[in-house]
Amino acid sequence: MKTALSSFFILLVCINCSSPKKVTAPGGLGVVSDEAMVVSAHPLASQVGISILKQGGNAVDAAIATQFALAVVYPAAGNIGGGGFMVIRKSNGEVDALDYREAAPAQATRDMYLADNGDVVEKLSTRGHLAAGVPGSVDGMVKAYKKYGSLPWRDLLQPAVDLASRGFRLTAREARGLNNLEDNLREYNTIMPEFLFGDWQEGDSIRWPELAKTLERIRDNGRAGFYSGKTANDIVAEMERGNGIMTLQDLADYQSVWRAPVTGYYKGYRIISMSPPSSGGIALLQLLNSIESQNIGKLGHNSAQAVHLMTEAERRVYADRATHLGDPDFYNVPQSELLSTAYLENRMADYDPENATPSDAVRAGDFARVESEETTHFSIVDKNRMAVSVTTTLNGGYGSKVVVSGSGFLLNNEMDDFSIKPGFPNLYGLVGGEANAIEPKKRMLSSMTPTIVEKEGKLHMVVGTPGGSTIITSVFQALVNVLDHGMTMQEAVSAGRVHHQWKPDKIFFEKNALDQQTIDELTRRGHVLQQRSPYGKLDAILILPDGRLEGGADPRGDDTAIGY
Ligand code: GLY
Repeated sequence: MKTALSSFFILLVCINCSSPKKVTAPGGLGVVSDEAMVVSAHPLASQVGISILKQGGNAVDAAIATQFALAVVYPAAGNIGGGGFMVIRKSNGEVDALDYREAAPAQATRDMYLADNGDVVEKLSTRGHLAAGVPGSVDGMVKAYKKYGSLPWRDLLQPAVDLASRGFRLTAREARGLNNLEDNLREYNTIMPEFLFGDWQEGDSIRWPELAKTLERIRDNGRAGFYSGKTANDIVAEMERGNGIMTLQDLADYQSVWRAPVTGYYKGYRIISMSPPSSGGIALLQLLNSIESQNIGKLGHNSAQAVHLMTEAERRVYADRATHLGDPDFYNVPQSELLSTAYLENRMADYDPENATPSDAVRAGDFARVESEETTHFSIVDKNRMAVSVTTTLNGGYGSKVVVSGSGFLLNNEMDDFSIKPGFPNLYGLVGGEANAIEPKKRMLSSMTPTIVEKEGKLHMVVGTPGGSTIITSVFQALVNVLDHGMTMQEAVSAGRVHHQWKPDKIFFEKNALDQQTIDELTRRGHVLQQRSPYGKLDAILILPDGRLEGGADPRGDDTAIGY
């Protein structure tokens, strides 16, 4: 796939509903509302979420409806053929976390992406039928609904059914995305998804008729509408035609899992984030606690000193990630050790504010081969201050590029998030080892970091982003931007970002993030810097001092905050 395709995709305009009004208040504030807010990657999905809240649904109801709407209007990352994570904070302060990450099929093997000579077979883990893990999104939504849902299930599905069956208009960006996707669709599908082919232009209407029927089956039959019956049969038939390995038994066996979120404190703020099999929560807390003793607010936003400090923390934390993190049901993740104050103090003991610590020269990842990071995130707060933070994905843009014929949805290419060979960099340049090796039914390690922050026992912020390996550092910067640099939520998500992930040993930065003097100062300290394209789409909500909600929607995408 041409990487240009994967940059920024989608703006779809509903032909059935009035466009949401995107209001940006003065003073650097994002959209401000009194009671409730939804911020997602697509205006139509945000509108679906807010309409559920207006009907009296709670934040989980809205999250379920938003997830299904994104599967239609944001097919690059919104999904029913992928997976994700949901972090919840109830109105009474109780917290919960749902892992609906994909799992390896039972026939998966450690070396399934290696040739006989031990080399990685190019694209096998990222394209086509073998790249797909067993999808978790539908089971995740069903489980979330059973525990927290309040409106009728069918009401949460119907908006997505309507969008898929009635259609909506493509923007220029989405038309371009679909046009660029065509070669890959032709290469990796055995039955051509003709409905996606065409010389798409801005304003063209697109419908997903088979997906509409699949969503109706989920609406009418819940979990059985996906993991058995026609949808499951279509998935398995698709696998058989494309030499994939997912079976009816894999689908029947898949279960999303309620997990305890990772929690900890940063300067008195309580951080609630996703636990393994995402590395996000542990890594975020490690980063925050590694810099806590330094007054990063005083160093100045994206100053050379601040970027140096964050980078030194990041290289140590990502080195831990590569070694110690994996699916906790298969690997004993040393969570308490990784988060202990003594351990983190020790990790930063050789921190030198003037000189970079070179990362080990083990095989470096090559960021240049990286496909755009097309996960998606949404943040929701309801009128009772229940908060939901969801990050969900197909992995790469449009996942494996395989459309399940007869059921009309894209399958993920999440298997690439496993360490397919020790030390071999994945799509995001991340390396890994034993902890994240492929095993049947194991979940692949993630970087997704859906996060909620409390201040003095009350809800303070809901935040998250797509961006593959950059997710963790983007959420880290969003928190520091607000908590230390005093930014509004909108300023925090708009601000230029920098990223380091241990390997490759480089600071990646967005064009607007660093001025030349800062680049020169960082270079003098021994860092290697590389400018890259904009990345991540932070969607976040901040509780303002007067109790209103401020939505921060990332201007890098079509992300939209809607409140009431
Ligand atoms: N597929 C990206 C992640 O899970 O981190």
